[in-house]
Amino acid sequence: MTTPTIELKPSANPLSDAEREAILASPGFGRHFTDHMVTIRWTEGRGWHDGQLVPYAPISLDPATNVLHYAQEIFEGLKAYRRPDGSVATFRPEMNAQRFQRSARRLAMPELPVETFIEACDVLVQQDKAWVPAHGGEESLYLRPFMIATEVGLGVKPANEYLFLVIASPAGAYFAGGVKPVSIWVSEDRVRAVPGGMGDAKTGGNYAASLLAQAEAAAKGCDQVCYLDAVDHKWVEELGGMNLYFVYGNKIVTPTLTGSILEGVTRDSLLTVARDLGYEAEERRVSIDEWQADSENGTLTEVFACGTAAVITPVGTVKRAGAEWKQSGGEPGEVTVKLREALLDLQRGTREDTHGWMHPL
Ligand code: COI
Repeated sequence: MTTPTIELKPSANPLSDAEREAILASPGFGRHFTDHMVTIRWTEGRGWHDGQLVPYAPISLDPATNVLHYAQEIFEGLKAYRRPDGSVATFRPEMNAQRFQRSARRLAMPELPVETFIEACDVLVQQDKAWVPAHGGEESLYLRPFMIATEVGLGVKPANEYLFLVIASPAGAYFAGGVKPVSIWVSEDRVRAVPGGMGDAKTGGNYAASLLAQAEAAAKGCDQVCYLDAVDHKWVEELGGMNLYFVYGNKIVTPTLTGSILEGVTRDSLLTVARDLGYEAEERRVSIDEWQADSENGTLTEVFACGTAAVITPVGTVKRAGAEWKQSGGEPGEVTVKLREALLDLQRGTREDTHGWMHPL
């Protein structure tokens, strides 16, 4: 498989320092984009080619382009952090690169070599380094690698041409309230993914499938929807765009990966970080009835959501048909806060990187 070298064609008109600083003062999530993007093409018989770093700009697609009709698309999310000495590092990019390959296999797309995925992210962050927010706060530079089928035609089949891109967006807290606990609506009828489906692939279709239940959650006054499994409608899977953890005193528990749950990088990292901090960490099935009963009897002490975008966000209120309860009195729990600080310190370079997870640029 060929690995393209990325040709640098930087913008002649990047945003001024003052304009960029104004954005970095309050970036929000996914609202602003840096000056550049990386593009790499794949063509059947030729493989990966024409890697380029170019000015950030709209892309033009024929209305009959395959992805617009049959959603052959995958994506990733990872972050670059500013360290105390001003340098920049990304967090576990090879995990994202490997998941991108698994998602590609599931959607019958070509696999981008891990080293090309990492090189594409590195080249963009190097070029747009000034967009990485200052050290010390919650902000980082969110990278969004993605791939779309670009063959023109309405036949339902794997495309013979693809476009891989990486864009970058300075990011503050995903939820408007920051670390304020979020409220969850448990959807007991709508499901996110089914056994044998593509719930463990990071593809736009899974997020499209989550929007109606998410809107129903919002109508119930909740921030996020929580999905149960598609067979028994009983086992907790994940939220619309992030994984879940339950805290039982000194032990953290996350639902076992069943094939319909996304294998989150933050989810995986927390199993290790928790053990480093002296907690027990376990993967097992948790039912919605157990969640409610153990919250009511006090053995389930905290619940939090986690993901690259969400970092670690406490869950404050849970609602399901006929019931409503609070987690840790509706406040961020002690274990949640400790894990959050440890993970962020590691990512921001103020906690020793004992697992070699940071990728300095
Ligand atoms: C991420 O956490 O990176 C995601 O892709 C989730 C999305 C809802 C922003």
